[in-house]
Amino acid sequence: MQKIVDMLSEETGKAFEAAGYDKSYAKVSLSNRPDLCDYQCNGAMPLAKQAHKAPIMIAEDIAEKLKGCEMLESVEAAAPGFLNMTLSKAFLAGYINKMEDDENMGFEKTKSPKNIIIDYGGPNVAKPLHVGHLRSAIIGESIKRTGRYVGHKVTGDVHLGDWGLQMGLIITELKERKPNLVYFDDSYEGEYPAEAPFTVSELEEIYPTASGKSKEDEAYKNAALEATAELQGGRRGYQALLSHILNVSVTDLKKNYKNLNVEFDLWLGESDAQPYVPDMIEKMEKDGIAYESEGALVVDVAEESDSKEIPPCIVRKSDGASLYATTDLATLVQRMKDFNPDKVLYVVDKRQDMHFLQVFRTARKAGIVKPETELEFLGFGTMNGKDGKPFKTREGGVMRLEHLIKDINEEMLKKIMDNANSKSDEVDEKKAKETAEIVALSALKYGDLSNQASKNYVFDIDRFTSFEGNTGPYILYTIVRIKSILEKYLSAGKSASGKSVLADFSEVEKGLMLELVKFESVVKGAYEDSAPHKICAYIYDVSNAFNRFYHEINVMGEEDEDKQASYIKMLDLTKRILEKCIDLLGFEAPDKM
Ligand code: ARG
Repeated sequence: MQKIVDMLSEETGKAFEAAGYDKSYAKVSLSNRPDLCDYQCNGAMPLAKQAHKAPIMIAEDIAEKLKGCEMLESVEAAAPGFLNMTLSKAFLAGYINKMEDDENMGFEKTKSPKNIIIDYGGPNVAKPLHVGHLRSAIIGESIKRTGRYVGHKVTGDVHLGDWGLQMGLIITELKERKPNLVYFDDSYEGEYPAEAPFTVSELEEIYPTASGKSKEDEAYKNAALEATAELQGGRRGYQALLSHILNVSVTDLKKNYKNLNVEFDLWLGESDAQPYVPDMIEKMEKDGIAYESEGALVVDVAEESDSKEIPPCIVRKSDGASLYATTDLATLVQRMKDFNPDKVLYVVDKRQDMHFLQVFRTARKAGIVKPETELEFLGFGTMNGKDGKPFKTREGGVMRLEHLIKDINEEMLKKIMDNANSKSDEVDEKKAKETAEIVALSALKYGDLSNQASKNYVFDIDRFTSFEGNTGPYILYTIVRIKSILEKYLSAGKSASGKSVLADFSEVEKGLMLELVKFESVVKGAYEDSAPHKICAYIYDVSNAFNRFYHEINVMGEEDEDKQASYIKMLDLTKRILEKCIDLLGFEAPDKM
């Protein structure tokens, strides 16, 4: 639906013209004095100089022309030159009714859909998922869902880290433990077994063991480096081991991501990009973009306007190995060939910003992407503990994601039980556990997403799981409250179908309506800016507006059937908007809590 601010800007533009002024000054915005009016236009002030007239006089001229505008109940000029506008009740109620009647709550899909790839998740194969990967998954998933809702074609790629030293380490350790495996027999020419020679838990233990050993034992480390090089060089037995490692790991990762309500369309990894490396490098050399420097092959990416030094991008090490940047460039070659995206968005730790700057510039310079292909890096901050340092376990180790989720589930269950006990409600333990998991996910995701992505934030389990304040559980509690009213209404045998939101509403209803009408512009803005926190801020406002309504109005006690139906219509719209928004954030509401 056309936004109210745009409708008002259009009307105001006509008024500017009718009064003989330039209509480009007629932009209307939300009021920053909601106690005085709903919307405002400040155009008279900047126009004053050019028009050689006092701003208040201009504002008065416009106000005069806007009299009789059906959308407005009142329009006033206020010193020094503001135009204060208050919506007419009939118009606002009509607008809300249109939203309520529309399947998509008035939300219109974009008219210029784009083809977008989001690179997020980025787990490293055979290493357990840790909280560092949590933010990428949570933020990327939300942007993906929002982009799709806006109408774009969005493909999520997990971009597995499966091409580094960790593979060589695992192979080396496996060779020490089971030297007779056929994978290590150079003369073997047959098929390799379909079954992996290890389980997930073995694999998870093998990597840290190997990594520990390599730090102490030089020869072990060299063996791992060599195994990595041999794997990358295409040694058959090692390639077969790689696919076992991948299979076992990916099955486990999928399970973990499912618990987080995160889903990827593509499970490609760094290794999938390797076939593109040789041609890509050859072309860079041929085009004279890449040159040898101290044995390595580099691309200059510094630009004159840089305020700090941007070192050259190394695309091949002196020993011939490819690097992180090589892989990311080759991945772009692959993505352009297979998907021809308009945009590639990377949701990665902000400490990798230099890497992406170098990769993006190299990709442009080498013509890997088209000039119009957008490359965007959304760098997120660190999740810290209460001590302000990166989040750790109580013992000081790296917190594994599974453990973190377990902790938050337990804390949530405790809060739900306490809450039920304080109301002396009967609780079914199994149900309570299921509910706790749903609510805990909202606590975790909202706790993350409500912060601007680039900022660090403090993981505060107690605050995140609270039913009060700016938290996921508070939003869910609000939805559950609305569901319960709607259910009571239905169980009383009533129906609001055919009825509508009435125009004689009170202030507290209006407060809620003015929030609801922002739905489309908030969601679109959040997508444009890759900023899920804007959706969080919005649903917090909607929830607060609803809760004010709830404390003032007794819906079920209302005797006037039309009035009651009007409340119900508004609550239904509120519920649908909140539910859509949390779906975009990547979680859902239980029926009861
Ligand atoms: N695996 C990497 C890490 O754990 C993140 C990958 C990010 N994506 C990319 N295209 N480089 O740091």
